[in-house]
Amino acid sequence: MEDIKAEKLPRHVAIIMDGNGRWAKKRALNRIRGHEEGAESVREIVRVSREIGIPFLTLYAFSEENWKRPGYEIQALMNLLKRFLRSELKEMLTNGIRLQAIGRIHKLPEDVQEELRKTARETSRNRDMVLTLALSYGSRQEILDAIQGIAKGVKAGKISPEDINEELISSGLYTEGMPEPDLLIRTSAEYRVSNFLLWQIAYAEMYFTPTLWPEFRKQEYMEAIREYQRRERRFGATGERGGRET
Ligand code: IPE
Ligand code: IPE
Ligand code: MG
Repeated sequence: MEDIKAEKLPRHVAIIMDGNGRWAKKRALNRIRGHEEGAESVREIVRVSREIGIPFLTLYAFSEENWKRPGYEIQALMNLLKRFLRSELKEMLTNGIRLQAIGRIHKLPEDVQEELRKTARETSRNRDMVLTLALSYGSRQEILDAIQGIAKGVKAGKISPEDINEELISSGLYTEGMPEPDLLIRTSAEYRVSNFLLWQIAYAEMYFTPTLWPEFRKQEYMEAIREYQRRERRFGATGERGGRET
């Protein structure tokens, strides 16, 4: 951790946590065991993020498309989520972590929604880090919701079409008020975005690793941060030195 430069930390890290099932399969365990082990990685990555001073951490925990999975797996994931929220509350309060959820939360089981509301309420005054769980989340659905909101505003005469700009669209997304991710990590050797934060990652640095999520722990995470710090972000310009790299 000593070689992490404090002045070049990502403000927002977003992670597609993938590979729980394959981790279990490799060990002849059932997929649920993989998710349980994945929850241990979540605990560690949250703790380390807070330690190094990342202000926003967003974790893709359940996609809108994950509803296609078998009922027992969905049930197990929901139970695991509830247990996670209960067991981590104390830690979040001690460490100044505020929890929030993004996605079509109303589709989650009522008891999970209740636990999310409770955790969000109890951590609402925390200021050191925002932990966002993407649940029943799909980026296209999110963009669609934003467009419908804007269209209603236009119809009601509150917005004129010329007023529609990037800021207005961003403010209609579930991530309203958050900075865009600087670093997007995906584990398990899948090189795709799977409907995660499509609008928000326009200029995110991508980090892909073959490591399966249950094995993605502090060391791997530090490697991703170090790699991020080596990158030069240009945002379409020519770079600080101007012109071509040699
Ligand atoms: C990621 O692990 C967790 C969720 C998507 C909920 P997977 O369950 O997708 O694991 P693999 O991809 O089958 O290995
Ligand atoms: C993406 O993983 C969703 C989450 C990590 C929650 P998936 O395993 O569901 O994605 P695909 O099916 O490989 O694209
Ligand atoms: Mg997967």
